[in-house]
Amino acid sequence: MAKGAVMLLVLFITVLSAVSEAHRPGNRALAHGRRPGADPLAPTHLHFYFHDSSTGASPSAMRVAGPKNVPLQTLFGAVYVMDDPLTVGPDPRSAAVGRAQGLYIGADQTSTGFLQAMNLVLTSGPYNGSSLTVLGRNNPYADVREMPITGGTGAFRFARGYAQARTYSMDLKTGDANVEYDVYVMH
Ligand SMILES: *[C@@H]1O[C@H](CO)[C@@H](O)[C@H](O)[C@H]1NC(C)=O
Repeated sequence: MAKGAVMLLVLFITVLSAVSEAHRPGNRALAHGRRPGADPLAPTHLHFYFHDSSTGASPSAMRVAGPKNVPLQTLFGAVYVMDDPLTVGPDPRSAAVGRAQGLYIGADQTSTGFLQAMNLVLTSGPYNGSSLTVLGRNNPYADVREMPITGGTGAFRFARGYAQARTYSMDLKTGDANVEYDVYVMH
């Protein structure tokens, strides 16, 4: 009986110290850091699908500026703002993991090369509430394009890394695209 009580007390203190440790500012083990048990030298890998649609009843991206006669080959000078859903699978109705919020600008006069500046705002899973910032060049017609991760918030404070984007499907008439993202970050 007494032994049981002592065991309970020890358990209680262990749980209490684990909880207060997790909430200590700067703790990197839980909500504001890497997953518990993760190899500290291995990058965190995030995988999701990005849905960019500038057509339909509620477009997630729209052109907000640019020349009247934008060259269709390059889209040079066109500025688009997006708030695109990110999902766990290629089906846009699959579980939401976050949003890609920012802009892309036609910035190449001879081929298609967007300057893409966006925040990946995560809204579920272990990184819910954290964000990553991407700034790079995106040629949507390339098989794989790589964009740097320049920083982050929450679990991703001090983040550095890269994103690789691969088109999963694209409607060539509308430009609406479903893009697979693999993101690798050190944080
Ligand atoms: C993400 O975090 C917010 C704020 O804490 C919470 O309201 C929401 O339910 C969480 N979402 C998921 C899917 O866990």
